[in-house]
Amino acid sequence: MFSLRGYNTFGIEAEARQFVEISSIDQYVSLRKSGVHADLPHLFLGGGSNVLLTKPQEALVVKISIPGISVLKEDGDFVWLKAGAGVVWDELVQYSVDRAWSGLENLSLIPGTVGAAPMQNIGAYGVEIKDTFESLEALNLQTLEMEIFDAKACAFGYRESFFKRAGKGQYLISSVTFKLSKKPSVKTSYGAIQDVLAAKGITQPSIREVADAVIEIRKSKLPDPKDIGNSGSFFKNPTVSASEAARLIDENPGIPHYPVEGSTDVKFPAGWFIEKAGWKGFRRGDAGVHAKQALVLVNYGEATGGQILALSEEIKKSIKDTFGVSLETEVNIL
Ligand code: EPU
Repeated sequence: MFSLRGYNTFGIEAEARQFVEISSIDQYVSLRKSGVHADLPHLFLGGGSNVLLTKPQEALVVKISIPGISVLKEDGDFVWLKAGAGVVWDELVQYSVDRAWSGLENLSLIPGTVGAAPMQNIGAYGVEIKDTFESLEALNLQTLEMEIFDAKACAFGYRESFFKRAGKGQYLISSVTFKLSKKPSVKTSYGAIQDVLAAKGITQPSIREVADAVIEIRKSKLPDPKDIGNSGSFFKNPTVSASEAARLIDENPGIPHYPVEGSTDVKFPAGWFIEKAGWKGFRRGDAGVHAKQALVLVNYGEATGGQILALSEEIKKSIKDTFGVSLETEVNIL
């Protein structure tokens, strides 16, 4: 048995039957061909920043630590930057920001690894990885052949992709390539970024200044997993039909809401509902709702995955009863 406590950002204690760390696809293919642990299901783990472990894992846990950042090609306008699945996401972001290549700066400080990023099309402050995504390489777990996916094949949506739907459990992502811009083009329309830059008197921000603003906002709101266990947003922001949105806006004057690209649906911040229902800062034992961002559930130390899950179910029921809105879990429950 192997403790996974140090391998999930919630800091939950859960044991794995077997554990192996791989630094190349070849290593994994050899393992598969050798037949070792063929009796166990294989569970792939990147940074463990989007999982809630609720039970012992009767599996071979494969920690993906494939390294490497390299420039595939460049021209006057763009650079194609490739990173191994095991690269820490923020290391890739800061690598690109340091070189003034734009596209990833708004995604600064998101916990996790490069290989996990496309699975749920990670996003923050008005940017998603689909915006700069070029392609990825993945091992087909059935044929053990490598396949290349472009953005279309990944079927990205809001915190969604092919790898969470039809392709679930069928691929091991080994690297991701991004197409970044050499021309300074920053996205600061997300309210909080503008406020932070304005407070510093910055009107024409550099890529580094945008990244630093994002880092400042995240640090002020989101708990650092090193201090308090968490997996970022526990729920997705709910998207509802236009008529349902009209009801919510009518019943809750002043509720923030956002249009959904290419649809008449409307997105509402789950954190607003959770806060209004009185859960912000709630704590039971070591399971709680973060005091500065109600969308984030936290482990103050010794909470079990079951306790966090039970709290999340209670919150879902409360939001359904109070507002008639169904919340969907964003974190993978294992
Ligand atoms: N709000 C509240 N109370 C709260 C939290 C939020 O009222 O406790 C309301 C506020 O009105 C605020 C609005 O919600 O204006 C939006 O809040 P925030 O900017 O903090 O963003 P979010 O919608 O709660 C999403 C992402 C985050 C991402 C931020 C910034 C999801 C599920 N979450 O949160 O992503 O960092 O926007 O872009 O879409 C993550 O996925 O793990 C994550 C942290």
